[in-house]
Amino acid sequence: TVLVVDFGAQYAQLIARRVRECHVHSEIVPATMPVADMMARNPRAIILSGGPASVYAEDAPQVPAGLFDTGVATLGICYGFQTMVQELGGTVERTGRSEFGRTQLDVSAEGVLFARTPTSQTVWMSHGDSVTRAPDGFRTVAATDSTPVAAIENPARGLYGVQFHPEVLHTEHGQELLRHFLYEAAGCRPTWTMVNIVEEQTERVRTQIGGKRAICALSGGVDSAVAAAVVQRAIGERLTCVFVDHGLLRAGEVEQVEKDFVSVTGARLKVVDAQEQFLHALSGVSDPEEKRRIVGREFIRVFEQAAREVVAEDGAEGEEVEFLVQGTLYPDVVESGGGSGAANIKSHHNVGGLPEDLQFGLVEPLRELFKDEVRQLGAELGLPPEMVWRQPFPGPGLAIRIVGEVTRDRLETLRAADAIAREELTRAGLDRDIWQCPVVLLADVRSVGVQGDGRTYGHPVVLRPVSSEDAMTADWSRIPYETLATISNRITNEVREINRVTLDVTSKPPGTIEWE
Ligand code: XMP
Repeated sequence: TVLVVDFGAQYAQLIARRVRECHVHSEIVPATMPVADMMARNPRAIILSGGPASVYAEDAPQVPAGLFDTGVATLGICYGFQTMVQELGGTVERTGRSEFGRTQLDVSAEGVLFARTPTSQTVWMSHGDSVTRAPDGFRTVAATDSTPVAAIENPARGLYGVQFHPEVLHTEHGQELLRHFLYEAAGCRPTWTMVNIVEEQTERVRTQIGGKRAICALSGGVDSAVAAAVVQRAIGERLTCVFVDHGLLRAGEVEQVEKDFVSVTGARLKVVDAQEQFLHALSGVSDPEEKRRIVGREFIRVFEQAAREVVAEDGAEGEEVEFLVQGTLYPDVVESGGGSGAANIKSHHNVGGLPEDLQFGLVEPLRELFKDEVRQLGAELGLPPEMVWRQPFPGPGLAIRIVGEVTRDRLETLRAADAIAREELTRAGLDRDIWQCPVVLLADVRSVGVQGDGRTYGHPVVLRPVSSEDAMTADWSRIPYETLATISNRITNEVREINRVTLDVTSKPPGTIEWE
């Protein structure tokens, strides 16, 4: 295994993910873990992550004592690099020259890390302090205009450090650098695959749930389906999948779940019609966070009720469903303020919006994974492409795509427009090019139009097609004009309340993907 030592913020998971991409197993451990405990895990290599702190800060996290004497190959990244340098007697200075974002790196010696890569390459930087002198015994192999020591190597001791972030995609040869470190410096072998990840997660879930029962919230989206498939594999009939029709779904969702999920996995499915309950709870509410809280709260109520019913149906009085399975992904955890030191952007209902008196233990087998990894996992579990490649759909559903109060009529209007947009994007063969395309109803806005010979006074919808790697950042998708024209024509012709179609051309940041 490779230990990724977490110095805080959002970096460690991405590094772990890149290590998995090199087909090497990894585990994230806190920087506070004693070296003896780390060694007990028998690591092949150690990677020290970046972090938000300055090595000069009072409470700057320290490298566990003795780490550099273990003989285990170690790579320090950004903050991890600086702590390594400081610990081993080099110099880290406040030069007053910060570097953020894309930076040109000049490689002076290929060494191990830069083997067979160009002498000039683009890297992603994010730092204030800089290393000005490498520790004794280290060779400086790369520099930038403002950072004289941007990468160092000491192959004899197996110690390596880089100021930039090899784990982010903007670093051109970052993945190669990690491969070089793992395969050549640490002697790891590329044997860890999705099959292993399926096994590992299945085993974990089995241990967590034991002989108890679980229910899973199926939303029709890929995350909950893959999470459920993992748990179904682990505990079989003791899992019941609950599909809550909260009335905030898109067209054809229940049918899709039955066709693409239940028939493949053989999972036990319970469909609950809770449309009235949700509409009632949402009436009069237009604040986005309030909507999220309400949907989260009502969801849990429906589950608790469904759980009691499952037990009763099985004639297992006295038993309880103790676990709730959720398809929470790593980016959801971060954006809900769950990563250490990360800010709460919005309360995704499957993480931040859960009520405090939750009756279930949470099972989240995808909590450490990114979306594209979840798709691979789903394929490995035998789910069909229609399921695995479905575009993400948020738990609170259409409720957060109606700007304004949610009503039955508005839901119907939005559902019709959304179905048209989806149909045309599929017809144009764009499903895999775009990450998702929310259609947003501006229910509190009216605009004047003319149709036939008459004046109309309807609502606009916004098309929000985005491209993204993991939903943490996104860009608006450059959809061909013809496709946009068809979508616009059809929506304004076929959906009575809508007389205007607009296109959102904002990236994330500054916008988020959903409007609420
Ligand atoms: P934002 O709008 O935060 O969306 O840029 C990022 C991704 O998350 C989805 N999303 C949610 N998913 N519960 C979910 O399960 C939620 O409350 C929620 N809010 C946003 C969104 O569709 C996008 O893919």
